[in-house]
Amino acid sequence: MRVRVDSEACTGHGRCYSLAPDVFSADDVGHCVLLHDEVPPGLEEQARAGERNCPERAIALDEP
Ligand code: F3S
Repeated sequence: MRVRVDSEACTGHGRCYSLAPDVFSADDVGHCVLLHDEVPPGLEEQARAGERNCPERAIALDEP
């Protein structure tokens, strides 16, 4: 599974890294930073939670 963040769409709600701190982190203004482009085994549910809960729909998953 691959994960992408649209940095133009992200406004820093922070739900991604609050709900999925092993997949997403924050830059110094609270915008999303990916910890992995390819989601490591076992973190798929975190990645999905981040994708589902972003109010700006800034996160996209490519599921095989
Ligand atoms: Fe940005 Fe959405 Fe996360 S707006 S900080 S990608 S919850």
